[in-house]
Amino acid sequence: MKKILLLLLVLSIMSCVGEDNEGQDFGDIFDSDEGLILTEEEHPDGWGRSECFVCHPIFDIHQVDRSGIGILPLEEIQEFVVEEGLPSCPICHGDNGVDK
Ligand code: HEC
Ligand code: HEC
Repeated sequence: MKKILLLLLVLSIMSCVGEDNEGQDFGDIFDSDEGLILTEEEHPDGWGRSECFVCHPIFDIHQVDRSGIGILPLEEIQEFVVEEGLPSCPICHGDNGVDK
């Protein structure tokens, strides 16, 4: 009986640790010539909108480095975005067609 309890405990711990947040993935962020700066072409559904979090929940973005070379300071980006909120987005992603 003790062994079974121990096994269950270990399994439940493993399942917690294994729960990776793979985040949002649109795959093509580095494809365009503009890089991180959004263009109407690559952002048809979100173009011209300023309430980014409606479609990009703050804790689902910047989770995975897709640069292909693994150099993005994701933790710093996450921290920065949480501190600065919505106004931070244009700093790295451009104005997204939003009228200023
Ligand atoms: C109405 C929903 C919606 C809103 C609002 C929205 N987006 Fe998006 N966004 C999307 C969708 C859908 C995609 C996937 C587009 C694709 O790559 O085909 C996307 C993709 C992206 C990408 C990845 C682009 C790429 O080339 O892979 C970035 C960066 C992004 N959005 C940033 C933002 C920012 C910053 C804002 C606010 C200024 C914003 N989005 C507002 C729906 C939205
Ligand atoms: C300091 C620069 C920086 C800021 C500020 C920033 N981003 Fe990003 N963002 C990046 C980088 C770099 C990537 C590419 C990550 C990857 O996919 O490898 C990215 C990718 C994304 C993606 C594509 C999906 C993903 O998770 O990779 C979305 C969506 C996105 N950002 C939304 C936003 C929104 C919304 C804000 C504002 C709240 C914001 N970003 C602020 C640098 C930034």
